[in-house]
This record gives sequence, C-alpha cells and structure tokens, in this order.
Amino acid sequence: MADVEGLKIAKDYHVGVPFANQEGFYVKGANHLDWGMKKHLSNIFDPKSGNTVMFAFDHGYFMGSTAGLERLDLVIPKLLPNIDVLMGTRGALRTCVSPDCRKAVALRATSGSSMMNDDLSHEVLAVDIEEAVRMNADCLAIQTFIGADGQLSSLDNLSKAVNLGMRYSIPVMGVVAVGKQMERTPRFFKLATRILAELGANIIKTYYCDDFEEVVAACPVPIVVAGGKKLPEKDALTLAYNSIKGGAKGLDMGRNIFQSEHSVEMSAAIRKIVHEGFTDKEAYEFYEDAIHTK
Ligand code: R5P
Repeated sequence: MADVEGLKIAKDYHVGVPFANQEGFYVKGANHLDWGMKKHLSNIFDPKSGNTVMFAFDHGYFMGSTAGLERLDLVIPKLLPNIDVLMGTRGALRTCVSPDCRKAVALRATSGSSMMNDDLSHEVLAVDIEEAVRMNADCLAIQTFIGADGQLSSLDNLSKAVNLGMRYSIPVMGVVAVGKQMERTPRFFKLATRILAELGANIIKTYYCDDFEEVVAACPVPIVVAGGKKLPEKDALTLAYNSIKGGAKGLDMGRNIFQSEHSVEMSAAIRKIVHEGFTDKEAYEFYEDAIHTK
C-alpha cells in the first residue's frame, strides 16, 4: 500500500475528453466484458440515449413501510411506462411486480441493518447468485459504506458479488451510502466512486455534488445519481438535469418520484430529461402541463 503521507492532490481530470476505451460497446467501461454482461447492461442502459431511469423502491429493506410505498402492488404498476429499471428487494419484486412487465431488474442483494439501529453500516451479502439467476437480475445492488464502521464488510460484500457476477455474467452496481457522520464532499464522492469501480463494480450509484464532472471523469464505469430526500418537484428536476448535464448516465430515484403527489407525471418528466434531452425548465413545464390536464 502506498505511503499516503505527502500525497499529491489529484487534479488532472481532462473533463472535456471522452472516455478513451469506448469503441465497440456504448456502456462505459464494458468494452471487454462478455456477451451476457453486455446484454444485461443494454437492458439497463437504453442503446439509443445511453441512459437509464431507475426507480428505487428498496427502502423497505431497512426502513420497513415507507411513506409513499405503503402499497407496492399499487404504486409500481402505474409507474412502469416511465421506468427502465426496477430497483427492489427480491421480496418486493416477487410479490408485487408481474414477471411479464419487461423491465430490467436491479436486485437489492445486501441487507442486515434497520432503522432500529444507530449504525446502519453493517450488512451482509444476502442473496445468493443462483437466486439472482433465477430472477433474471440485470444487476446486483450492493450497498457500500466508505469511511464508516462497516467499510470492510461492505467492500467484502461488493468483492464477493463481483466475483460471483463475473462467474455468471451479472453486473454489479455499487451503491455509495452517506450517513449521519459521513462527509458529502466532492473529495468523498471521488474517493468512494473510484474505489467501487476499481473493485470491479460495473455501475456506480452515488449522489450529485460540486465538481460532479470530475467525479464522472475519474470513474471508469457509468454513474447513476441517487434522488435522496424529497425535494419540491422543480428542484428534483433541476437535480436530474444537472446530473445528466454533468455526465451521469441516469437517475435512480425513489422518494422524489413515489412521494410526489403526481408520481406518474413526475416520472414522465424525469424520463424527458434522461432520454430526450429536456432541460429542467422544459421538464417542469411538461410536468405542470401534465398535472393540469389530467
Ligand atoms: C440507497 O442507498 C438505497 O438504495 C435507497 O433505499 C434508495 O436508493 C433511496 O432512494 P431515494 O433516496 O431516491 O429515495
């Protein structure tokens, strides 16, 4: 391990220079993966826009019943037309999502924490790879806790998932967690996203931050941006727009969709930004029109 004393600050991100190893396949960093991996990645990232709209409804895995997700069986079906990827637990998917919905699946594969604990950073790899194959998962979502007490076990979970994913051609999505005591700085997000990519994650879910373009440039796999706590719709659309403008290849939103009073229209507006190049202003106008004409 390198001596970290006197380490130079990384600064040469070549933000305007496209990723160099991209010939042959459109998903960043996936050029040398096999057919099965590429098939799953193309189920996730639209081959035309290169981007994805993920809908996160995995909150119940540590929060139990969450406001807006009390009835998964009612919430999910109405959002499906605007969603590319369903990010959920196997319990939610198996019980509340019809297998003929033709949407990609990001299977929540870690668990072990709950809102009853102060420290949420200790998890295990809870879904075995045969189960992921049975569910035709397009990626395994692995929560990671860089800088927290559970860092070692979460990176162990991620590494094991990558080993299994490589064996069965199932991509891994490393999810960057932020906690009460954890920093949310560009330095932290650059560190966390790069560590997860170097450990073999094929997709990174993280948060938008200042200098986001540098986070993207330094990460050799696609980044999808997490929604976070509920914002006014206008602000959530600005977050989505800034993320895509900054180089994210999609959004993985939960509360900013399912806690919106107009969740269908909100998901449609997000889709316009992600796949059709709408600005936040255009998307908000679209949202307003949609809610007033329904
Ligand atoms: C992220 O850490 C977990 O996957 C969450 O359950 C989910 O992503 C949260 O989504 P949102 O913050 O957009 O409600």
